[in-house]
Amino acid sequence: MDSIKKTDNFVFQTYQRQGKAFVKGQGVFLWDEDGKKYIDFLAGIAVCGLGHCHPKITEAIQKQASTLVHVSNLFYTMPQADLASKLCEKSFSDRVFFANSGAEANEAAIKLARRYFQKKGEKNRFKIITMEQSFHGRTMATLSATGQDKIKNGFYPLLEGFSHVPFNDIDALKNKIDETVCAIMLEPVQGEGGIIPADPDYLMAVRELCNNKEILLIFDEIQCGMGRCGALFAHELYGVTPDIMTLAKALGNGLPIGAMLATQDAATGFDFGSHATTFGGTPLATAAALEVVNIIGNKIFLDKVRQTGQYFKEELEKLKEKHTRVVDVRGQGLLLALELDKDAGFFVKELFKKGFIINGIQDKILRFAPPLIIEKHEIDRLIKELDYLL
Ligand SMILES: Cc1ncc(COP(=O)(O)O)c(C=O)c1O
Repeated sequence: MDSIKKTDNFVFQTYQRQGKAFVKGQGVFLWDEDGKKYIDFLAGIAVCGLGHCHPKITEAIQKQASTLVHVSNLFYTMPQADLASKLCEKSFSDRVFFANSGAEANEAAIKLARRYFQKKGEKNRFKIITMEQSFHGRTMATLSATGQDKIKNGFYPLLEGFSHVPFNDIDALKNKIDETVCAIMLEPVQGEGGIIPADPDYLMAVRELCNNKEILLIFDEIQCGMGRCGALFAHELYGVTPDIMTLAKALGNGLPIGAMLATQDAATGFDFGSHATTFGGTPLATAAALEVVNIIGNKIFLDKVRQTGQYFKEELEKLKEKHTRVVDVRGQGLLLALELDKDAGFFVKELFKKGFIINGIQDKILRFAPPLIIEKHEIDRLIKELDYLL
């Protein structure tokens, strides 16, 4: 039985997969079982920021895999300590909790926000406001936080204490605030919702609101962080810092790792025993992630992401001027979207046949999240093909 038949027979049918199995990746390229080569404009859904099998990451994984893979969080290890201190050095945060995925990092953030106020004796302050069209994960708490009904259907009743307001609407947010709200949680650039960046004034106003009402501000940078938008963390582009931030996806360049970062004050919400996970911050995952942060956190690297992203966006805008089917071009850095009048699926399939991997979200939107090392001439190839198909 081949890999496709075996998967379809034995794995839960929760994913609609393209009908090919991949066997190899290198840089921005992937190869399928038949030896066909593809340019990857999705990077495993914004995960392989440094491309496939980056030599430095492979070396870090190999070295750590032959030294120490796991001991549990009952003990100390150097890679975890190094990654935590590096993340704090590169961000607003003072402390890091390591998890294994984005949803788990967000679970930690939700729990921290609630416990921060419970510890202060404010037992009624447990509500979290999130945004419509947001996506925060598939566990029950993160599903409750997510602002998209279609993902929640069939799982009710969800967790109490979450409400959603329209994104980029400060009045709607202000109207929801009362003394029961402990946190506001948002993606500075909404990913799954359709690549929708926060308005700079809005993000500033949200920060001010949180300061005035003493509410914790949580940024979910699981998709838009780690260099994806042209800064190590997307909120740096806005000059607005949160109290808590979550990371995952590109942090491990493919190794599963999530992280919740917090200020010293917010971090006081957790004590010994408040939260835990067996695999969080293994030496293997953190050794890989440390190398990722070292490479992506470099100014020259990030300047190039911004320049390449700008070029890509301009080329997409030219398509918009030329083709009436293109409704909008959005995004920051190398997290970009082309909104069509209908049927993104057709383009995803046709481009796949031609050797380009992209994906469609919200039915009409083509999402581009290539490895951050993509070059202009590779973008040109995609644009040429899109131009032809449109
Ligand atoms: C913004 C955001 N938050 C959370 C998640 C959930 O991450 P994971 O799939 O690793 O649980 C995702 C995944 O797409 C995401 O884009």
